[in-house]
Amino acid sequence: LDQYGVFGNPIGHSKSPLIHRLFAEQTGQTMSYEALLAPLDGFADFARDFFARGGRGANVTVPFKEQAFALVNQLSERAERAGAVNTLCRHADGKLLGDNTDGVGLVRDLTVNAGWSLADQRILLLGAGGAVRGVLQPLLAHKPRELVIANRTLSKAETLAQHFADLGPVLASEFAWLQQPFDLIINGTSASLAGELPPLPAAVIKPGHTRCYDMMYSAEPTAFNRWASDLGAAACMDGLGMLVEQAAEAFLLWRGVRPDSAPVLAELRAQLA
Ligand code: ATR
Repeated sequence: LDQYGVFGNPIGHSKSPLIHRLFAEQTGQTMSYEALLAPLDGFADFARDFFARGGRGANVTVPFKEQAFALVNQLSERAERAGAVNTLCRHADGKLLGDNTDGVGLVRDLTVNAGWSLADQRILLLGAGGAVRGVLQPLLAHKPRELVIANRTLSKAETLAQHFADLGPVLASEFAWLQQPFDLIINGTSASLAGELPPLPAAVIKPGHTRCYDMMYSAEPTAFNRWASDLGAAACMDGLGMLVEQAAEAFLLWRGVRPDSAPVLAELRAQLA
């Protein structure tokens, strides 16, 4: 049986085993996929051991994505840009490839599932941590008119903007400087986790026009999406679709088959409620 898994700490609540089990059933692939608790002080040895014992591929989640980046023999271009790896794949020669499917997962949820265009749009990205860094290259590949990174700590937004400047029109900002409406606002801060909100001026939302996306998800609308819909945002989505789509991209890389994400997303949504 081809073995896959997800490395994290904690890992108990991971939805990845369910997602990949549903993908495997749907596509008739024979494989196992397990949640694996990697030790905080021994990720590299744990991962090497998994592959030495025949593991074919793995996902990597908090807090190991940067350590996985350092572990691999080869990086995809998007993983290189992200500075983080969420998908590991062992080649026949034993070499370990590191990829990052978070950004394409987000872009696929935005463009294919929601049907929103990114080209020529004014996009605001909130936050400047790992979650935002992971999605910048795929977003810029869709040629937005402008991509503004706003963060509580301005210097981190500036560092990211510089790092990605060769890929498109990317700028850094303080929250308070934002006084114009955007076409699309993506929340990549971890503020939602604590039920908090970045201190955003209401002017960033043009009622009936601005679309919003929170990379976090929950049974109830997130704090950011509630704030945006109260201000009249045209549409709000949460990150459950991104979770399923990043998994679909990993599955495609491992098995060469693209699963249909829609029924899996519907199942996860039903389980959240
Ligand atoms: P992740 O890997 O989830 O991106 P991270 O690298 O710790 O986690 O980054 C968290 C992001 O959320 C940062 O941009 C952080 O802002 P700072 O860089 O100023 O720390 C942002 N963040 C967290 N809590 C926030 C809050 N209550 N309000 C605004 N931004 C917040």
